[in-house]
Amino acid sequence: MQQSTPEEVDWSALRADFPTTEKFCYLNLANKAILPTLVEKSMQSWMHDIYEHAGDSAFSMGEIEKTRAAVADTFGAPPECIALIKNTSEGINIVAQGFPWKDGDNVVISEFEHENNTFPWRHLAKRGIEIRIAPPGDDGRVTVDQYRDLVDAHTRILAVGWVVYGNGYRSDLRELSAFCHDKGVKLMVDGIQAVGILNERLDDVGADIIIAGGHKAQFSLAGAGIMYATTEVIQMLTPPYAAKYSFDTLDRTIDAPALADDAHRFEYGNPNFAGLWVQRRSAEYIKQIGLDNIDARVEALTSYLIECADKHQVRVRTPRPWSQRGGIVSLDLGGHAGKAVKALHDQGVIVAEKDGHLRTSMHFYNNEEDIDQFFSALQAL
Ligand SMILES: Cc1ncc(COP(=O)(O)O)c(C=O)c1O
Repeated sequence: MQQSTPEEVDWSALRADFPTTEKFCYLNLANKAILPTLVEKSMQSWMHDIYEHAGDSAFSMGEIEKTRAAVADTFGAPPECIALIKNTSEGINIVAQGFPWKDGDNVVISEFEHENNTFPWRHLAKRGIEIRIAPPGDDGRVTVDQYRDLVDAHTRILAVGWVVYGNGYRSDLRELSAFCHDKGVKLMVDGIQAVGILNERLDDVGADIIIAGGHKAQFSLAGAGIMYATTEVIQMLTPPYAAKYSFDTLDRTIDAPALADDAHRFEYGNPNFAGLWVQRRSAEYIKQIGLDNIDARVEALTSYLIECADKHQVRVRTPRPWSQRGGIVSLDLGGHAGKAVKALHDQGVIVAEKDGHLRTSMHFYNNEEDIDQFFSALQAL
């Protein structure tokens, strides 16, 4: 267990774990994580086990349970409430397809949701489930006030991004969950832009379900992700797929086997052994640094970026209080940002264009020099 404070952590030593930072000014975590060398080492150790031990550990379900335990420990949830899934989309589809819908039910999302937290719900339209989409308020945010008008007695799920991938707004999950639970609505959270950065336990923010593909702030591989669900919700959901490991038995002769009582019910067949091997080590790495330290570091870096934006008179679209944002800061360049993003890319400064605006996104491996380099490149365009 880590003991240090953010000031005591040697951030430049940790930056050296990310060779990509030597070549690029990388401010694009919200798209893909650049990975630490431990990922390469753990992929090699996975192969080594196959070469030297015929995959005794590499293909072992016991190792998968170690990943579940590590992820649960790092991100804060009972292991039995964690399903190891492929990506955010798979988790959201497990919920959308497995929920006990009744005729006339509706699900509420916002205009700010990613495609992968929109299409799984759209796919329910042909089953008569209404999709209600909240527009942002005048301040460009979707808060409980926007949802209030749409949620009614037939609303069963409110599905929100924890940190909005476009403008970087962080939802207040405690406020939203209190609102939802008062109305008998389940709160489902797309956590991919938050898990690995924010110092919050998954089981302590009031959400019923939190899903996060592993390939961004968790430093895992694409194809390995996590789904947290409360015991109550696990019991409510009928998994859309079931095979070996989804049931509480391996006995093939039982006519109607019971589903696993815990989150194993959402898993089926051979898992992504290599990806989950990496995911365990990445979760342990994050734990060792400390989510509290990471959270403080990303707050400091993003605050510095906002300060620089003010100095350069670039409008910041993301809310300023740390409680309302995460590692993403979106900037309004006064016109479509596509050309600027491309020109910056040509200079080795990697940012993204989202909703026509320039999106920066950071993790602890970034530093103030990255931000200075970004602004001088931007000013020089
Ligand atoms: C908010 C959000 N949800 C989901 C995804 C990705 O979904 P998946 O993990 O299914 O690829 C992204 C980005 O790729 C995202 O920004």
